[in-house]
Amino acid sequence: MNFNELDWNKLWQEACRRKSWKKKGKKEWDNRAAGFAKRNSDSDYAGKFLRLMKPKPHWRVLDIGCGPGTLALPLAGQVQSVTAIDFSTAMLDELKKRAAQQKITNITAIQASWTDDWRALSIPLHEAVISSRSLSVFDLKSALEKMNDWASEKICIADRVGSGPFDPDLFAAVGRPFAPGPDFIFTVNLLYQMGIYPRIDYIELEQTKRFSTREEALDSCRWMFDELSPSEEERLGDYVDERLVLDETGAWRLCRRTPVKWAFLSWEK
Ligand SMILES: C[S@@+](CC[C@H](N)C(=O)[O-])C[C@H]1O[C@@H](n2cnc3c(N)ncnc32)[C@H](O)[C@@H]1O
Repeated sequence: MNFNELDWNKLWQEACRRKSWKKKGKKEWDNRAAGFAKRNSDSDYAGKFLRLMKPKPHWRVLDIGCGPGTLALPLAGQVQSVTAIDFSTAMLDELKKRAAQQKITNITAIQASWTDDWRALSIPLHEAVISSRSLSVFDLKSALEKMNDWASEKICIADRVGSGPFDPDLFAAVGRPFAPGPDFIFTVNLLYQMGIYPRIDYIELEQTKRFSTREEALDSCRWMFDELSPSEEERLGDYVDERLVLDETGAWRLCRRTPVKWAFLSWEK
């Protein structure tokens, strides 16, 4: 077998087809916007991403799949401007609401998908282009080429490692098969074949999360499933109750066995 004959884009697409759940469209992300924004507001993820990204003050940054502004909002104070694009209008509404609350005026929000014609949407080249946890595309090669083409200085991607944010133990407890789909190793190999040799760092998140109520802890697990039957919901509740501990400060702590890990891929032009 010859390594160079492997078609990593095709392997990625086949791995996407084997995933336990179907790819989410605009409507599914719209429905998730408020919950996603709430769950991510106290995470240490953005700080870790930005420390690896090392933003420069003169940069205009294009944030693809920006969501509720997890990166765009803290980035805005460190760079010249941010163009935040997402296909979900509800995500962009969350971002605009938060930007207004924080009196941030250098973010431009544009509704656009990975596959739209960005030239027709007048999205200009930027010094830096980022995709944070948003590489949910079928044609990975075109997405990577687009990122590379739209950046004049630096490209940064946060891509899944293994199960990513999903908890395999929870799937087992609920009784659902678990196939998380392709992770960063496909992206690295495809970049290599494109003649791009990215730097690879890792972002590891805290294994223990704190909640003020049991319901909040349940919500932090429910998002992993499209829909739950009553018996699955019961098993999810049992999983949470077995692990939930009330700490000395009165907060509920939920610890998972597998840590959430992201690969941070970056390269310079
Ligand atoms: C997991 S969230 C990540 C949000 C943010 N970048 C972060 O790291 O918190 C994924 C985001 O990608 C967006 N997204 C998914 N597929 C997309 C597509 N084809 N085009 C544009 N945005 C997409 C979703 O709407 C969602 O806001």
